[in-house]
Amino acid sequence: MTAEKIAVISGKGGVGKTVLTANLGSVMSHVFDEDVIVVDTDVSSSHLGVHFGFYSNPATLNSVLKGDHSPEESIYEHETGLKIVPGSLNYDDIKDVDVHGLDKVISEFEDKSDIILLDCGPGVDRETSAAIRGSDKVIYVSKPSFTSLIDVMRTDSLVEELEKDSVGIVLNMVKGKKHEVSPSEVESFTGMEVLGEVPHDNRVEESTSKGVPVTVYDPHSKASRSIEKLAADLLDREAPSDRRSFYRRLRKIIPGL
Ligand SMILES: Nc1ncnc2c1ncn2[C@@H]1O[C@H](COP(=O)(O)OP(=O)(O)OP(=O)(O)O)[C@@H](O)[C@H]1O
Ligand SMILES: [Mg+2]
Repeated sequence: MTAEKIAVISGKGGVGKTVLTANLGSVMSHVFDEDVIVVDTDVSSSHLGVHFGFYSNPATLNSVLKGDHSPEESIYEHETGLKIVPGSLNYDDIKDVDVHGLDKVISEFEDKSDIILLDCGPGVDRETSAAIRGSDKVIYVSKPSFTSLIDVMRTDSLVEELEKDSVGIVLNMVKGKKHEVSPSEVESFTGMEVLGEVPHDNRVEESTSKGVPVTVYDPHSKASRSIEKLAADLLDREAPSDRRSFYRRLRKIIPGL
């Protein structure tokens, strides 16, 4: 099998790339039974593992980039079935990592799942470029604000330069305020399809503090329901109708719930 590699990118920092990568991956895996790996390619500011309660892993993307571990050794399986390649949280593991080989390392995960979601860093630096180079296509995440969308457009120039396709844009932390940019305005400003809207939801921060993705922590929360719909649309699938017993089972096996 050769996985489809999708980079989750933004431009602006702090718009929800990591939350969306963690939760899309989680839902694709535990609701839709897809074989998915999420990879923390935000090498110098990794957080992806924290969403799954990973705080100290011997093998990380950093140690793979340094040649200390093989790609296989850096894949951890979560209770949801999702496979996770965390980054290191330690400064020492960032200092001498050369991100130049990031795209090649990403390609080494290709035969290990059907879908690979790459949690990218903000901006258009070497790290982000290398991760986009290693992807097949990109999904943008933005807040419904002009500054966030301006940064999306800046990153889109890089994506064009690297000749990658964009699937579209996800609007995150939507509060429904008048000053927010509406989905139709986003579409005419960016020329991209709005794939979905995820509301601002306090359950997201709450779930992160427990080290559990919100879609597992509270699958019925507003954010979880919209992320599940987004995953269904991206996979071109319908969510199974009775998931309550499944969630009850899942909540029993995940510590901290
Ligand atoms: N839908 C949401 N509702 C409420 N809070 C959210 C939502 N999405 C993300 N957040 C919060 O916003 C903050 C930034 O989210 P996240 O770390 O996923 O952004 P990011 O784009 O990955 O940031 P960076 O560019 O630094 O990697 C976090 O504290 C997260 O919990
Ligand atoms: Mg992030």
